[in-house]
Amino acid sequence: MTIPQAAPPRRIARFREEIDRAVASVLGGSTYILGQAVADFEAAFAASAGQPHGVGVASGTEALALALRALGIGPGDEVIAPALTFAGTAQAVLQCGALPRLVDVDPVTRCLDPARVAEAVGARTAAILPVHLFGHPADMPALMKIAEHHGLAVIEDCAQCHGASLAGRPLGSFGHAAAYSFYPTKNLGCVGDGGAILTRDAALADRLRALRHYGFAGPERVSRGLGFNARLDEIQAAILLVLLPHLEAGNAERRAIAARYRACLSLSGLGLPPEAPGHVYHQFAVTHPERDRLMRHLAEAGIGTAVHYAPGLHRHPAFREGATGPLPVTDALAATLLSLPIQPEVADEAPARVAQALRGFSL
Ligand SMILES: Cc1ncc(COP(=O)(O)O)c(C=O)c1O
Repeated sequence: MTIPQAAPPRRIARFREEIDRAVASVLGGSTYILGQAVADFEAAFAASAGQPHGVGVASGTEALALALRALGIGPGDEVIAPALTFAGTAQAVLQCGALPRLVDVDPVTRCLDPARVAEAVGARTAAILPVHLFGHPADMPALMKIAEHHGLAVIEDCAQCHGASLAGRPLGSFGHAAAYSFYPTKNLGCVGDGGAILTRDAALADRLRALRHYGFAGPERVSRGLGFNARLDEIQAAILLVLLPHLEAGNAERRAIAARYRACLSLSGLGLPPEAPGHVYHQFAVTHPERDRLMRHLAEAGIGTAVHYAPGLHRHPAFREGATGPLPVTDALAATLLSLPIQPEVADEAPARVAQALRGFSL
């Protein structure tokens, strides 16, 4: 049987009865936009990450863009971000009129390299945007030190790290704001687009609530400033409320599958992802110099894989202007990374099947 790289409908199927009841309750209710489900989910999600304020928005990209705007970042500003990430990270920076300054990543963590960040800080730098890529923590203590030294805002891109921590502290709680995506394949994913921002700053949360809702500051429909229609909707929030209590168990399953991959693949010649206690394995991304040949070989063996991310963002026409020079680590990873199946609903047999398939593959 073929193992897909990811299959969000299988997670929905696992919790289908509860989800059906939650959706029916929204359909039979009185409010489809910014009602009780969104408010309940914001409170529950913020509490789960140890943060006082949560603001549900339309997507992870909106979460980043609104957080940047709410922190006052705009035209003329530069935001330091990694070149190895999903395009949405840098699009959010462009969306608010700022320039994404793309720097290289650390070869082990695959996240922002603090040394490269320190070199890239200049007169226009307004913020640092670390991405906890694949669920592994970026080096937040080092990045916060740089940010504090230069008076920079820090927005954590938590699209791939729901439930993750660093030295016991939840990711997303280090910077000024944390942006989450609930795209269906995420560790916490809905059945469409969705996102949220978490913060400990009450005034920032108020600005975000206004920004996502036409600039309205309260129940009276008066625009106090710039605003968008960028809200999380009730149906997605109701589904997320069903899935949130299962996030921790899902992350534990991912860690268990990752441990089995390590055991099965330790002698395989593949480069294995870094280990960290708070890692939530949004992806289990290995490296191999002949990545494309390996991908084809695994596909022939009925194992779905995916490439995250190639090319590096500094090679996208939209982001070229902000590249800080040659980015050799990003280029090398973009050419060799391959994400194996890790979603608990599809990946149970994957470690053994991948190991078996590798026996017929000349490394
Ligand atoms: C690291 C990262 N940042 C931002 C995003 C954008 O999120 P969305 O697709 O919900 O806009 C994603 C995922 O999709 C992501 O993986």
